[in-house]
Amino acid sequence: MIQQRSGLQFLLLIGLLAGSGVFLAHAQVPFPGQCSEVKVVEDFDVEAYLGIWYEYSKYPFAFEIGKKCIYANYSIIDNETLSVVNGGINRLTGNPSDISGTAKVIGPARLAVAFFPGQQTTRANYLVLGTDYESYSVVYSCTNVTSLLNIKIVWILTREREPTAATIAAAKQVLADNKISQSFLIDTLQSKCPKLDSNGTDLGAEDLTGGDPIDAFVGTVLPNAIEKA
Ligand SMILES: *[C@@H]1O[C@H](CO)[C@@H](O)[C@H](O)[C@H]1NC(C)=O
Ligand SMILES: *[C@@H]1O[C@H](CO)[C@@H](O)[C@H](O)[C@H]1NC(C)=O
Ligand SMILES: *[C@@H]1O[C@H](CO)[C@@H](O)[C@H](O)[C@H]1NC(C)=O
Ligand SMILES: *[C@@H]1O[C@H](CO)[C@@H](O)[C@H](O)[C@H]1NC(C)=O
Repeated sequence: MIQQRSGLQFLLLIGLLAGSGVFLAHAQVPFPGQCSEVKVVEDFDVEAYLGIWYEYSKYPFAFEIGKKCIYANYSIIDNETLSVVNGGINRLTGNPSDISGTAKVIGPARLAVAFFPGQQTTRANYLVLGTDYESYSVVYSCTNVTSLLNIKIVWILTREREPTAATIAAAKQVLADNKISQSFLIDTLQSKCPKLDSNGTDLGAEDLTGGDPIDAFVGTVLPNAIEKA
């Protein structure tokens, strides 16, 4: 219920932000005032951070709306650049897609991720607030829009598609320690997802329908209704 309501608010927001000239792909949850300082992981170990992370939950983010099974794959390009591949499955069509970008390491636990040519790569827009490298990572991004408004994204990433409750509790503790709201977090569907092979290709697209109301409707309810009509 809460998720639906915040989803609706988010749609209204997209309209407002689009109207005010903020790009749709950047539409995020707005907060009053400017971004405040947050504490990032001090002794961040880039190498330990590499590899696959599954998106467990996040603040609404237009770019990823309508996707499930979302994951990221980080790998080394050179001593200060990572390759970033974000993949997911379209909830309506079941089609996989991914997008490639880079992340400049501009300080410990501070990355500048860019997916489009010409996108700014000097401002840290990916801060790692907490990670144990092996089960969870809490990622934070904040942008000053005006002197009165900032927009934030928070992601909880996990090494397992379906992490344990203890893992999620550890991640949420990082948010609590940083006084970051958990009420905008929306869980990402990670059930009935295709397995990733070593190069990230979606394998054995099992039964990709089901596990989520939209897919169940398109995949089961609708055909059944048509059959009975
Ligand atoms: C946002 O503005 C505040 C206050 O001017 C500044 O301290 C902070 O560094 C800015 N943050 C970002 C992410 O631009
Ligand atoms: C990365 O490599 C370049 C060229 O090899 C070097 O100039 C730079 O200092 C290195 N940066 C770090 C952070 O090691
Ligand atoms: C990934 O591996 C699969 C087989 O495991 C292969 O068919 C596919 O071409 C590979 N894709 C890339 C981009 O290398
Ligand atoms: C992640 O990216 C690395 C480097 O491109 C690649 O070797 C690896 O196979 C990828 N893994 C998955 C599961 O996509």
